Amino acid sequence: MTSLGISRVYTLNYRSMQTALGTVLITEEEIRRRIADLGLQISKDFAGGSVTLVGILKGSFIFLADLIRAIAQDIPVEVDFMSVSSYGDATTTSGTIHIEKDLGISIEAKDVIIVEDIVDTGLTLLHVYNILSARGARSLRVATLLEKPGNSRYDRPLEYVGFQIPNKFVVGFGLDFAQRYRNLSDIRVLDEI
Ligand code: IMP
Ligand code: MG
Repeated sequence: MTSLGISRVYTLNYRSMQTALGTVLITEEEIRRRIADLGLQISKDFAGGSVTLVGILKGSFIFLADLIRAIAQDIPVEVDFMSVSSYGDATTTSGTIHIEKDLGISIEAKDVIIVEDIVDTGLTLLHVYNILSARGARSLRVATLLEKPGNSRYDRPLEYVGFQIPNKFVVGFGLDFAQRYRNLSDIRVLDEI
């Protein structure tokens, strides 16, 4: 594994594409290309090693499904998921975490990438990072499809970031509003919220 590979910040030309279901912020094609880039970066960083992807349910499942196939096939990749709910607010890093669904595999001495859909307050990530760190992962990195800069209490680097987006509530590509819209193939801002 090479040393830290922080993905370059990717800037989009945001434009308005109105649809019946909100305004498209990031197109399917832009997501596809960006995930291919992230896969290349991960493949370089983990060349000669192996990697365990830990997806945070539910939002990350589509991103993870595409990301794992963008990683070079000669790198052994394990995957597992966990689901957590956090009770905390954006003004404190305390708060508690409840593990709804835990990993089925050990991550001890493994090189792990936590896969998130979006980092907003960063509280979910902070809790998951601490849990996985306490379980003895050899290294822990983060891949997130989206980042809303400026809100996060997670103060470590985000190694693989798909897109930085404005501070708006988005849906699609796995992200929901009240469990809906996960099946959209692009990322949209709902007009009514
Ligand atoms: P956190 O605030 O960084 O802990 O984010 C926790 C979770 O909130 C994310 O994993 C998402 O599932 C959800 N979330 C945060 N922002 C958005 C959004 O804009 N759209 C949909 N879900 C979001
Ligand atoms: Mg959600």
